[in-house]
Amino acid sequence: MDIEHFSMPLLRWYDENKREMIWRDHFDPYYIWLSEVMLQQTRIEAAKQHFARFTDELPDIESLARVSEERLMKLWEGLGYYNRARNLKKAAEILVRDYGGKLPADFDALRSLPGVGPYTAGAVASMAFGIKAPAVDGNVLRVIMRYMRCDDDISKTGVRKKAEQLMCSVMPERPGDFNQAVMELGEVICIPNGAPLCDRCPVNATCQARIHGCQEEYPKKPEKKPRRMEKRTLAVLEYNGRIGIRKRPEKGLLGGLYEFPSWDGKASEGEAVKRVENRGMKHAGVLPMGEAVHIFSHVEWHMTGFHILLQEETGVPEDIFFVTKEELAERYMLPVAFHYYLKQII
Ligand code: ADE
Repeated sequence: MDIEHFSMPLLRWYDENKREMIWRDHFDPYYIWLSEVMLQQTRIEAAKQHFARFTDELPDIESLARVSEERLMKLWEGLGYYNRARNLKKAAEILVRDYGGKLPADFDALRSLPGVGPYTAGAVASMAFGIKAPAVDGNVLRVIMRYMRCDDDISKTGVRKKAEQLMCSVMPERPGDFNQAVMELGEVICIPNGAPLCDRCPVNATCQARIHGCQEEYPKKPEKKPRRMEKRTLAVLEYNGRIGIRKRPEKGLLGGLYEFPSWDGKASEGEAVKRVENRGMKHAGVLPMGEAVHIFSHVEWHMTGFHILLQEETGVPEDIFFVTKEELAERYMLPVAFHYYLKQII
């Protein structure tokens, strides 16, 4: 792997083929940081929409540091991994306190911020400040492993470090463009799951996997562990046109976020009503809302929902509070896991 055969053809390819992205056109270190955090969990098209909405309301680091947790969650709604948004705000507070509200042009200082790992620090350092730091995400790792025909298991610690060293050794001038070129190659040409589009690859002549015709065997990864399957029952409680929600415990899956009251197991309609009555509420009617599946990284929720109308507000447990449907749409953030049920009532 060398600059002449790898880095230069890639940069030329990038200059001719790079996709348009808001954060590429309007150069701003804050935009770059925010977009990189969003892109860790979302496809580019979805990130673009969230990005525009987010930066309209929070155009700079100061406004991010000041935003309420509730509003932040609403702006992040649909992106998942909500701690990433919380870390963004924590980091923004530190940047306002210690760095005059600006991102520091220093890899180690970036790396020390909450939520900023080696990838994000490298991406921001190189793209925003022209620092020669590598930014190795899953796409980059796949490109390197194929190009080198390297048999290392990419889930093993140390492999990413080796890849970072390799990227450093072939880092040309324009490190930000180079890092993005490798990522983009991984996203549009050297794609996962299925055959990569080698005919259109600018480094196909020197790619070891391509030369040996074994592109699809790389990167090597361990067998995936099956996800844990959990059955849940959900009650959408309604009283006088308002809907009952509660906050989930701070720790654990979807920690600190709002939800419809829910519990373990798949309940029948009668069991769901009984559970609600056992918690002290009086029901006036019930409608099944159907079944939905939501897939997290390690768990699958298989949900059954019931719309349960209440006769009165008295008896409702203290952790449940009622909000209007407008508030549910505009103010409170319910994670996507609940949207199948949310959409049926707003
Ligand atoms: N994936 C994550 N960040 C990216 C970027 N800046 N360009 C292309 N793909 C990316």
